[in-house]
Amino acid sequence: MAEDLKIFNGTKEEQYQSLLPQVRALIGGEEDLIANLANISAALKEQFNFLWVGFYLVKNEQLVLGPFQGPVACTRIDLGKGVCGSAWQEQKTLVVPDVEAFPGHIACSSLSRSEIVVPFFCEGEVAGVLDVDSKDLNQFDEVDQKYLEEIISWLN
Ligand code: SME
Repeated sequence: MAEDLKIFNGTKEEQYQSLLPQVRALIGGEEDLIANLANISAALKEQFNFLWVGFYLVKNEQLVLGPFQGPVACTRIDLGKGVCGSAWQEQKTLVVPDVEAFPGHIACSSLSRSEIVVPFFCEGEVAGVLDVDSKDLNQFDEVDQKYLEEIISWLN
């Protein structure tokens, strides 16, 4: 079965509105978490061409690198460290317009200028985070937060 993504050129909101039903269809019939995280990463990368899109999963008190698209990245992040570890600790989405202004930001790529991290939950605990990086400053706003949180809610 063909799994081609339909890429939409339009406003950011329109791009998410085109993408979300396709992601829903892609992951809807699959129970395997890793398979779904891999396809979510690929779909976001393909539609928006972000610098880096991927997941870190909570394992033994650390975030450990999971499925992603983009340059190689650091493999382990402690609670409270960097944007990912902070989103985990605070249990909420963090939008970082300028990574250099975020104390403790972990620079996996020197090209990253802005970032959004969205935690996801299993039985009330953070099970991992979605991390998206951009080469541009101020890439992410409440529109990204709304749609990325919606995608992430389907993992529960
Ligand atoms: N910048 C992240 C680290 C992960 S990479 O960007 C892929 C952070 O500060 O947590």
